[in-house]
Amino acid sequence: MHLETVSLTHFRNYESQEISFCPGLNLLSGPNGHGKTNLLEAIHYACLAHSQRTRKDKELIQWNQTAFVLRVMGRIGGQEHAQSVEYTETGAKRVKVNGRESKRLSDLIGHFEVVSFSPEDLDLIRSGPQIRRRYLDILLCQFSLDYLDTLRHYNQALKQRNSLLKQMGAGSRDFGGDVLAAYDAPLVETGARITVMRRGALADLAPLAEACYRSISDGGEALSLSLSGCVSEAGDEAAIREDFQRKLMAMRVPEREAGLTLAGPHREDLAFFLSGKPVRDFGSQGQKRSVALSLKLASAELLEQKNHRPPILLLDDVFAELDEARRLRIGEMIRGKGQVFIANPRAADLPFQAEKIITLQRGRVVV
Ligand SMILES: Nc1ncnc2c1ncn2[C@@H]1O[C@H](COP(=O)(O)OP(=O)(O)O)[C@@H](O)[C@H]1O
Ligand SMILES: [Mg+2]
Repeated sequence: MHLETVSLTHFRNYESQEISFCPGLNLLSGPNGHGKTNLLEAIHYACLAHSQRTRKDKELIQWNQTAFVLRVMGRIGGQEHAQSVEYTETGAKRVKVNGRESKRLSDLIGHFEVVSFSPEDLDLIRSGPQIRRRYLDILLCQFSLDYLDTLRHYNQALKQRNSLLKQMGAGSRDFGGDVLAAYDAPLVETGARITVMRRGALADLAPLAEACYRSISDGGEALSLSLSGCVSEAGDEAAIREDFQRKLMAMRVPEREAGLTLAGPHREDLAFFLSGKPVRDFGSQGQKRSVALSLKLASAELLEQKNHRPPILLLDDVFAELDEARRLRIGEMIRGKGQVFIANPRAADLPFQAEKIITLQRGRVVV
């Protein structure tokens, strides 16, 4: 699986460019502020339906323009594959996968698998739970379309339930009987499945992450991961459903007061521990960095195991701040594997040779 071209129209500082890649190691070079990260972002967005650095899609539109278009073309298992997305400032999206129109942006996911590495990965450890849930969701969606589908249904059910809760308000005005009950059912059904699938993915990811951490850190601590904030500690899906339903019943009053659904997978979090201590609270900067890097390395390995092909790797400015052991680990991972994109101002800084060098200047490829 690899990308052959990406074309960008009014995306960030790119006016209109088509760029071709080699199936191996591609280096994006050029001075700072000229479009290296923007190009990685374009690849990320076209493959995973979101940017790795902002949630505000509007920011991606070139200034003074009203829409951007991205199109990626490549090969998946020997077959040509193309997908494109047009995003307009009004929020309208047009998605095409192999020529077929699709209503959902998320239909872009699950074709070209991607794992990105950047100094901002540290946010996985130090920022709020939302960013960790998103990381886990994107990982799962890239090897399980069933998960993507279940998550979509869960989010739909959650939105409808929240909007009903808002309408009802905290007042005594009742809508006759327990109207919420009808809205609990789809939430509980899909929510329990999500928790089960997230736990399953974590069980696969944890040993990989532990091994990666061991090889890039000199400390003797063991890295462990767990899903926290779950509606149930039960392992079995039916039992989780029951616990979830019970929780919702017990929270009728506070939920109406808040106008929000207060329990469910949308409140779960991913927790990281080194020798049993939460990394977020007790980890040093270096430990946090290593945990974040281990997670990303492990994600790439997990995707390779699940999909039987290595994911596309996007490495943004990571070499400057990595020490020798970490550089070697990444070097090992990259060598002879799938397609890799590395953004680095200078080719000379890299511990290996790029097969294709793309030099960028003011949003254009220098030829
Ligand atoms: N929406 C936008 N429209 C036009 N230019 C943008 C937009 N967003 C960012 N830029 C420009 O993109 C440049 C940053 O590009 P970036 O890819 O982050 O640089 P680098 O090569 O250092 O990774 C900046 O000069 C910034 O002004
Ligand atoms: Mg950059």
